[in-house]
Amino acid sequence: MWFRSFILMASTLMVMGSAWSAELPAREKFKRPDSIPAPTSNPLTPEKITLGKTLFFDARLSRTGEMACATCHAPDKRWSDGRILPLQADGVKNARRTPTVLNSAWLSTLMWDGRAGTLEVQAVLPITTVHEMNFDLASLANRLNQIQGYRPLFAQAFGNDTINPERITQALASFQRTLVSNQAPFDQWINGDEQAISEEAKRGFAVFNDKNKANCAACHSSWRFTDDGFHDIGLASADLGRGTRVPAEVTLMQYAFKTPSLRDLPISGPYMHDGSMHDLKTVIRHYKSEAIQRPSLSTDMHQFELSELEESDLIAFIKSLDGGPLGIQAPAMPQ
Ligand code: HEC
Ligand code: HEC
Repeated sequence: MWFRSFILMASTLMVMGSAWSAELPAREKFKRPDSIPAPTSNPLTPEKITLGKTLFFDARLSRTGEMACATCHAPDKRWSDGRILPLQADGVKNARRTPTVLNSAWLSTLMWDGRAGTLEVQAVLPITTVHEMNFDLASLANRLNQIQGYRPLFAQAFGNDTINPERITQALASFQRTLVSNQAPFDQWINGDEQAISEEAKRGFAVFNDKNKANCAACHSSWRFTDDGFHDIGLASADLGRGTRVPAEVTLMQYAFKTPSLRDLPISGPYMHDGSMHDLKTVIRHYKSEAIQRPSLSTDMHQFELSELEESDLIAFIKSLDGGPLGIQAPAMPQ
């Protein structure tokens, strides 16, 4: 027993002793990009961003006029809704928790099951889905055409005041691309400020990366802490996720969901596609030993043990990825 705790202490000291231990991945891998990517077919302009922001907060984008994008992707809820499952429209249930739209400029596949490829394509889905805004694009364009205050916004963004579905989705996509996490203490540390995060968080970062410990970095990689891939992590939910999009023979995609970023997590969840977890201790307990063993379970999922200290270190590290709210307010609605 004393021998084991000696080893633990020794390894802890080793990590504490050096600012950046040799086993850790290079800092470069976590450096934030300098600019926001946008497709050449829809370059970012301040005018499109302003229009997109207005549309994002406008409940008139829904059939009943009661639901805006921001109803479910709210600035004060880390651009999600804080709910286990989203609000429903017309009594039709939505089976999956609302993900954040922060850092969505970098997403290569969107939605929990990856069914949209770009923000422009994605924007059509909530507007037209029956259990969300339940509208259609032609009627929406008609409605916006009758709101005088929208015409100058479209004219400034696109050169003339034609209002059509393509422009609506391009503007929404442009605004969302500007929702980028603030610099977190972790980023300052990556940039060389050794004091920016606690010793606990530094040790937690090592646990996070250690293949023989938590191995979180196998999937939560890059500056956004996601590999943009799909994995079954052994949750109890019966939802097949990516499995509903690919043949049943693709074993590893059954029960698989898109890896979420770990930046700016809401403190008390809910976490996971089914909103089934409310704190990081529960999340870690799941990864340690509670994943359902089945053929689709990711090969990067293996049981592991952590001391209480390692567990609280890991949580301290995840909290160092929090850059705080963006401070964006709802704009005035055009009349
Ligand atoms: C009723 C709540 C609700 C409303 C309203 C809503 N969303 Fe969502 N949003 C969701 C849910 C739930 C998902 C995930 C659905 C899934 O993966 O099956 C989602 C997913 C997304 C994603 C993908 C994020 C990712 O990580 O893949 C984007 C982007 C997005 N919504 C933008 C919008 C925009 C733009 C609007 C307005 C036009 C909007 N949402 C309206 C609930 C909502
Ligand atoms: C095999 C890949 C993989 C590994 C390893 C992994 N994760 Fe995940 N993580 C995912 C996927 C995929 C999801 C979404 C699962 C779902 O909802 O079905 C997720 C979800 C999460 C969430 C919820 C985020 C949210 O917005 O809902 C947290 C927190 C999290 N992981 C932390 C960790 C930690 C901490 C570790 C290490 C102990 C870890 N993950 C290891 C792939 C992985």
